[in-house]
Amino acid sequence: MRPAQRIANLPPYPFARLERVLSQLRAEGMDIIRLDIGSPDLPPAEPIVRALQDRAAQPDQHGYGGYVGIKPLRVAIAQYYRQRFGVELDPETEVLPLIGSKEGIANMALAWLDPGDIALVPDPGYPTYSTGPFMVGAQVHYMPLLEENGFLPDLDSIPADVLRRARLMWLNYPNNPTGAAAPAEFLQRAIDFCREHELLLCYDAPYCENTYDGYVAPSILQFEGAKEVAIEMNSLSKSHNLAGWRIAMAVGNETAVRALALVKSNIDSGIALPIQHMAIAALTGDQSWLQERNAVYAERRDIVIAGLEAVGIKVFRPKGAIYVWLRVPDGWSSADYAESLLRNTGVSIAPGSVFGEAGEGYARISLVQTASRIREAMERWQEWACKGGACSA
Ligand SMILES: Cc1ncc(COP(=O)(O)O)c(C=O)c1O
Repeated sequence: MRPAQRIANLPPYPFARLERVLSQLRAEGMDIIRLDIGSPDLPPAEPIVRALQDRAAQPDQHGYGGYVGIKPLRVAIAQYYRQRFGVELDPETEVLPLIGSKEGIANMALAWLDPGDIALVPDPGYPTYSTGPFMVGAQVHYMPLLEENGFLPDLDSIPADVLRRARLMWLNYPNNPTGAAAPAEFLQRAIDFCREHELLLCYDAPYCENTYDGYVAPSILQFEGAKEVAIEMNSLSKSHNLAGWRIAMAVGNETAVRALALVKSNIDSGIALPIQHMAIAALTGDQSWLQERNAVYAERRDIVIAGLEAVGIKVFRPKGAIYVWLRVPDGWSSADYAESLLRNTGVSIAPGSVFGEAGEGYARISLVQTASRIREAMERWQEWACKGGACSA
């Protein structure tokens, strides 16, 4: 007996491996401050939780939730897109609820790629953009997101022979892990590029509501010609602090939405009804609490930036998402730096290399602990950095 060859080279999901190391260190008595994974620590607004509770208490809310979700949810998603982005969506053909966007991203590969096709994937980037293609026998061409290009891919550097076999491109802004935002001109250019090369543009926008310093993130569907080539994944995980409940959406190009719905209807049986009603409450209710929530992230971000700059570490001030991207000091690999920091201080961060080769030399901090815990993490980090002589403070 043996598992499929298809998964022989599939790496374990990076954070699954880290969990094992962390539980071992905890068992040895270490106080761990987790700044690695991006699971929001803050709760959603109270009416959202109440909608979930009310529905869960009703006797007729425990059956299957429907392959394309309930119509009121698709209508609520369309209404949110109209109000937030000025984008019109047909709830019947251009909206598909997802069990979190991770499954939508993985299943998009099944829906769109044949063996031998190429997916264009940002590096560093969310790991599922490439593991989805690997699982269906497709190949990945990485598009480096370089510091000197503002963490945008250089579309002109993609070789012609790659473009001939490429069938889709992933983009993600506000960006995980770098925190970068994409200028409107770049997004319009990406749409035009995908149209020219007959690529499906898969735009991943789970951080569109996690933005700072007055920045308002767009939807890709706001741009001219987008619906001809683009599908957007959006998620309530980070936008509305609902990561554990698993609810998200794919919207946009009708052919892509239909293909994804076909795949999903053969794999899952929809989203629990109380969760769908919770999402309706989240999307149609008062959104002003998101500003207050973002102010909490911004305060944490500022503690991190001040704490690391004090020891000479270069950090990139994020415009969006819930992370701070930083350059690891010279002489360290990302993995060695993160591991050394963890074992010496209990502060757990994500080495940039888990997001791809171009992430080497960097690391990511998640802003998902209280300000006081983050302050403590910075103190431990500073003490360690100065002890090791790597401190310019
Ligand atoms: C860029 C990006 N896309 C997608 C996801 C998946 O989010 P979810 O499956 O919770 O909707 C994440 C989660 O961290 C992410 O960072």
